[in-house]
Amino acid sequence: MTNDLKAGQLRSRAWFDNPSNPDMTALYLERYLNFGLSQEELQSGKPIIGIAQTGSDLSPCNRHHLELAKRVREGIREAGGIAIEFPVHPIQETGKRPTAALDRNLAYLGLVEVLYGYPLDGVVLTIGCDKTTPACLMAAATVNLPAIALSVGPMLNGWFRGERTGSGTIVWKAREMMAAGEIDYAGFVKLVASSAPSTGYCNTMGTATTMNSLAEVLGMQLPGSAAIPAPYRDRQEISYLTGKRIVEMVHEDLKPTDIMTRDAFINAIRVNSAIGGSTNAPIHLNGLARHLGVELSIDDWQSYGEEIPLLVNLQPAGEYLGEDYYHAGGVPAVVNQLMNQGLIAEDAMTVNGRTIGDNCRGAVIEDENVIRPIERPLLQHAGFRVLKGNLFDSAIMKLSVISPEFRDRYLSNPDDPMAFEGRAVVFDGPEDYHARIDDPALGIDEHCILFMRGAGPIGYPGGAEVVNMRAPDYLLKRGINSLPCVGDGRQSGTSGSPSILNASPEAAAGGGLAVLATGDRVRIDMERGSANILIPDDELQARFAALAEAGGYAYPAHQTPWQEIQRGMVSQLETGMVLEPAVSYRRLAQG
Ligand code: FES
Ligand code: MG
Repeated sequence: MTNDLKAGQLRSRAWFDNPSNPDMTALYLERYLNFGLSQEELQSGKPIIGIAQTGSDLSPCNRHHLELAKRVREGIREAGGIAIEFPVHPIQETGKRPTAALDRNLAYLGLVEVLYGYPLDGVVLTIGCDKTTPACLMAAATVNLPAIALSVGPMLNGWFRGERTGSGTIVWKAREMMAAGEIDYAGFVKLVASSAPSTGYCNTMGTATTMNSLAEVLGMQLPGSAAIPAPYRDRQEISYLTGKRIVEMVHEDLKPTDIMTRDAFINAIRVNSAIGGSTNAPIHLNGLARHLGVELSIDDWQSYGEEIPLLVNLQPAGEYLGEDYYHAGGVPAVVNQLMNQGLIAEDAMTVNGRTIGDNCRGAVIEDENVIRPIERPLLQHAGFRVLKGNLFDSAIMKLSVISPEFRDRYLSNPDDPMAFEGRAVVFDGPEDYHARIDDPALGIDEHCILFMRGAGPIGYPGGAEVVNMRAPDYLLKRGINSLPCVGDGRQSGTSGSPSILNASPEAAAGGGLAVLATGDRVRIDMERGSANILIPDDELQARFAALAEAGGYAYPAHQTPWQEIQRGMVSQLETGMVLEPAVSYRRLAQG
């Protein structure tokens, strides 16, 4: 670490120690002095470090950051910096209506303004609940001032009658148990609540564990940091070390663009397959890459990720939970397995000033039930397959969650083992689906494919997590649990359904789903990566013309000003659901 900074090198000095603007300096000083900071501190030339606080009573998953921030402050102070904590727009995955994804870009915008417009030299990003991680990383990317992420850590394992209960995933099972009369409503609530026994983010391999793991792989967290459970003492310790480290990063001028390179993203794509990561990861990482100006496409997810085997045995695809993941070695142990096969770009830089190779080389697996050695994976080819055709330009399918039942029913034609055809049943948004799924008039049988449209970033502002649709009651009773589902929305990372998701462009943006009709034949070929409505081209063109004539695909009215603003400028899921005009703003801290 070097301490020989010259005056003027720190951004914050333009506010607090600016000889060319003494009046403004006095004004800035008096207001920051008024809560107890001294002139000596503010003019000492010490880095001023923001703590971007995502925790609050409204954000229970991240609320523990209110405690951890105290240790972060102590680390900052010890390393010779001054901490200034400020709130980030809350994003709570399960509490925000209509969907938390709507708020990712709002929190991003707010954080960009704060990081750019206030006297900050570096920032600690407090990440955790699903969208808080991408929102914070995206803002740090746009402003490009030294930044380090601190995960809040997963909850402790949930337990019920001696079995692990995972947050998010247990709800699906509890619903089935209540429907079967095995538990009443009080038992339902008790079972669901058992999965969330402590502070922290979801303990399953949902979007939160995925994004926190990938933030570490991208190099933005201290090594080994992502998986430490929220209440553990180690979490307090890493918070202190994170505070110390950000001060050094400011002195070293180590910025997000030095760390989150294309190599780092390819590493993240590969690790995402190995951990069985969420289908929300391509949306957030593709969006983050765009804000950085890093080349990354949806096809990269298949090219680099599809062949990677599944190593981490966490619910919903597997058995274990967050505490087990930590005890088994967490992210470094997974990275080391891939590295042994030459699957990691080892030179990618990380926040501790060392490369990911140096950080993770030799990290051992402490429990092979939870993290498998790469020679004995849980499953081969655990990544995403990208599908294209006249229904959409791209959609993804998570191969690792295809159940044996699904494989037998749909993928067992020996001449065409990865293709199936079916009759389309089309729903317009989640309300339509809930209202009609059990209606016998739809004639849904095991040869049908369920379609959900009007659920993308424009159609259902932010994109609804609704593509995984259950079969109608009358089929469930016959033991047919999962029908193929396709849609322009998202799917919860805690759901294990084999759906074709994130179809782009969505119906509301003129994608092929808009002209699909119930009764159409559709062919899905996973080998060739295609998904098509089986109608002649001229009929397809006639349908598009009729749609244009009618003014396009209709979607519900805006409920809030932000919904209208975002709908007017948001990109599709394939390109990260970013605010298109924001992408051209880069490296704001560099002037
Ligand atoms: Fe916040 Fe899962 S709901 S982490
Ligand atoms: Mg989610």
